[in-house]
Amino acid sequence: MAAVAVVGYGTVGSGVVEIIETHREMLQKKTGKPVYVKYIVDIRDFENDPYGDKIVKDFSVVENDPEVETVVEAIGGRRVAYEFTRRALAAGKNVVTSNKELVAYHAVELFELAKANNVRYMFEASVGGGIPVIRPMSQCLAANEITEICGILNGTTNYILTRMITASLSFDAALKEAQALGYAEADPAADILGHDACRKICILASLAFGTQVLPEEVKIEGITNIAPEDIAFAAAKDCRIKLLGRAKKLENGKIYISVSPFLIPTSCPLSTIDGVFNGVMVHGDSVDDCMFYGRGAGKLPTASAVVADVIDTLRTCGDDRRIEWTAGDSIVSDCRKVAHRYMVRVNGNTDAAYAAAEKLFGEIEVIPCSSVSIFDGAFITAEMAEEKLLDTVEKLTAAGVEVKNQLMLM
Ligand code: HSE
Repeated sequence: MAAVAVVGYGTVGSGVVEIIETHREMLQKKTGKPVYVKYIVDIRDFENDPYGDKIVKDFSVVENDPEVETVVEAIGGRRVAYEFTRRALAAGKNVVTSNKELVAYHAVELFELAKANNVRYMFEASVGGGIPVIRPMSQCLAANEITEICGILNGTTNYILTRMITASLSFDAALKEAQALGYAEADPAADILGHDACRKICILASLAFGTQVLPEEVKIEGITNIAPEDIAFAAAKDCRIKLLGRAKKLENGKIYISVSPFLIPTSCPLSTIDGVFNGVMVHGDSVDDCMFYGRGAGKLPTASAVVADVIDTLRTCGDDRRIEWTAGDSIVSDCRKVAHRYMVRVNGNTDAAYAAAEKLFGEIEVIPCSSVSIFDGAFITAEMAEEKLLDTVEKLTAAGVEVKNQLMLM
C-alpha cells in the first residue's frame, strides 16, 4: 500500500483527492501497488465532505506517519507551504506541488533537501496547469540546447485579452467577466500585473538554462494599460496582443527574460490561443519549434499533472531522473539593451504626430486603421533597444505629441 497525504483542500487539493480515489485501479496498475489518500490536511471544516474521515488539522500527523510516502502540497504561497514542504522532505517523504511561487523562489534548496533525504520534489503542475511541459522539456528535449521559450502562461489575462479582442470589451469589463466566471481571483493583482506569469517563466528559464532565475530579475509589465485602441491597431497590423513570458538566449551567453504584452502576428500559433488556455513554445537547436497547449489552470487539469507526479514518486521500478537546476551567478542580461520593434500609439493631430515621429525615429510604418477615431494613430518603429525607445518617446512627448502606449512586436 502507498499512502498519500494531500495538504491544502482547495481547488487543486480536492481535484487530487478526487482523481486518486476514483482511479485507484489505474494507479495500482501504474505504480505496482495500491495507492490511497490517507490524510487531507486543512485547518478549515468541511461538513458532509465525502472524504471527511481523512481530514486532519495537524500537519505533524502526516510528518510522523511512516506509511505516508508522498505529500501533495496544494496550499500555495511561500509561508506555510514552505515550512510544510521542508518538514515533509526532512521526514523522508516525496513532495509534489503545483505551487509556482514556492518553486520559483525556493526550488534549489528544496531540491537539495530532497536529495539529502533520498526523496523527490516534483512540480509538473506549477507551469501550465495540466499541460505536460516540465518533463517534456527536461527529458524529451534533452538532446537540444534550448534557445528560446515563449509562452502564454496565465489563463486569466489571456481570457481578458481574448474578450477585449473578440467582444470589444474594455479591460475593466473583461476583468469583471473573468471574475464572475471564477477565472480571476477576487484580488486579481498577481494575474493582471504579470507576477503569476513571471513565476512560471522563471521556472521554465531555470529548467532550460540550468541556473536559477529569480522573479526579481525579470522585467514585468502586466496588461492593465491595454486599451481597445491598442487591440484595434494590432488587428490592423494583422497581430493579436497577448501577455507573453519570454526567455531567450542571447549572443553574449546571457538571457533576455520578460513578462510583457506583445503584438503577435496572426501567422504565429501562439496568437490563436484563446480564453483561459495556455500555450508554451520552446525552440531547441535540433527539434526547432515545439509547442505545448492545454488548460493552464482549473481543478482537474492541474490535479492531472499533480497525480502524474505522485505516480512517478510511487513507481516500484521508479524513474529517478531528477528534474532540477542549481543556483549561480545571474544569467539575466539587461533587457533594456535588447532590440525590438515597437508599436507606438499616439493621440491628437496624427499627421503632425507622424511627421514629428519620423524626425525622431527615422523611418516609421504608419498603421492605417478605420475602426478608431481620426484622433488615434499608431506606427511601427525600426528595431531599437528599450532604453533608446523610451528616450525617443520622451523627445516625442516634448515635441507636443501625446503618446498613449508602446508595445513590443514579437
Ligand atoms: N491564476 C492563474 C491563471 C492560475 O489564471 O492562469 C494558474 O496558475
